[in-house]
Amino acid sequence: MQRGGTKIREPRLASEAGRSIRPESTIDASITDAVAAEIARQMRLSVTTSRSPALAAAVQRVMSRHGITDPQRLRDRIAADGALREEVLNEATVRETHFFRDSKQFELLRHTILPRLCRRRAGAPARIWSAGCASGEEPYSLAILCAEDGYPARISASDISIRAIAEAVEAEYGEWSLRDTGEYLKRRYFLQCGDRYRLRTDVARSVRFTRLNLGFDTLPAPDRGLAGFDLILCRNVLVYLDAADLMRVAEELFTCLAEGGWLLTAPTDPPLWKYASFQTATTGAGLVYRKPMHVARQAGAERVFPTDASRATGNEARHPKENSR
Ligand SMILES: C[S@@+](CC[C@H](N)C(=O)[O-])C[C@H]1O[C@@H](n2cnc3c(N)ncnc32)[C@H](O)[C@@H]1O
Repeated sequence: MQRGGTKIREPRLASEAGRSIRPESTIDASITDAVAAEIARQMRLSVTTSRSPALAAAVQRVMSRHGITDPQRLRDRIAADGALREEVLNEATVRETHFFRDSKQFELLRHTILPRLCRRRAGAPARIWSAGCASGEEPYSLAILCAEDGYPARISASDISIRAIAEAVEAEYGEWSLRDTGEYLKRRYFLQCGDRYRLRTDVARSVRFTRLNLGFDTLPAPDRGLAGFDLILCRNVLVYLDAADLMRVAEELFTCLAEGGWLLTAPTDPPLWKYASFQTATTGAGLVYRKPMHVARQAGAERVFPTDASRATGNEARHPKENSR
């Protein structure tokens, strides 16, 4: 296969929807790219320039699976076929994840963030959201931490992919998903069935899943329980949003936090501090965002970044730009 306006020779295809089709055909790669971009728009899927080739490749895979030789035909078909649309979406999204991904962030959560936000909640459940939860390993890791340390929590989780959410609700995983989970937690929270691990039902049921497209749906959405969070994890998702969506999502995540609420992104995610009024701290687990408490209360009550959250690097809470001064 060659790209850049040259012809792609497709494998021999038997039939399309029962009809015989050209045994061999050629497709202009630039047409696939253009149609892939159009399909992404149709599906409201935000695509960065660097992800465009991956999207075109995803479109190609779905086309060959269905014996479709013309990308424009795929575009027309997905307009009317929800299942096909989902298939393209699943091919186009990266769903790599595992339990307790990024151990430093989970240490910070366990020893600093969760104890503090639960103390502030004074016995009421902490409100937590995993945005871009893939097959559920991230919200379930949070649920396990809360169960283990006795913190009451209401955990929401969302993803753009229906297939990812279905897998999450299933709550059954292979060894690879548990590669960073210690034997103690494995034994305590999972039931092993052959080479699969089933999450304890009470823990699985403590997470509520919903479908949400961060690049399109409006937030906060209190009617769907997506507002007023004490903690949001939005890790390894923002990297897939284009610049316009990123700016909007930063503002929306900020609005979805309760005062003093925390936001964790992944170290490889684009920074958000330029797009919303977050306070930030550099910790041993990377940059952490927080919604300020009301200014009048801040002086007397609780500091936005307690010293132990920023002690890891010796930095007081500062804007990242200030760290270089
Ligand atoms: C690489 S996984 C990250 C999973 C988990 N947060 C982690 O860090 O391990 C990225 C997830 O983001 C989801 N995603 C991509 N674009 C999205 C969007 N616009 N809205 C919501 N979810 C999206 C994908 O379906 C995928 O499940």
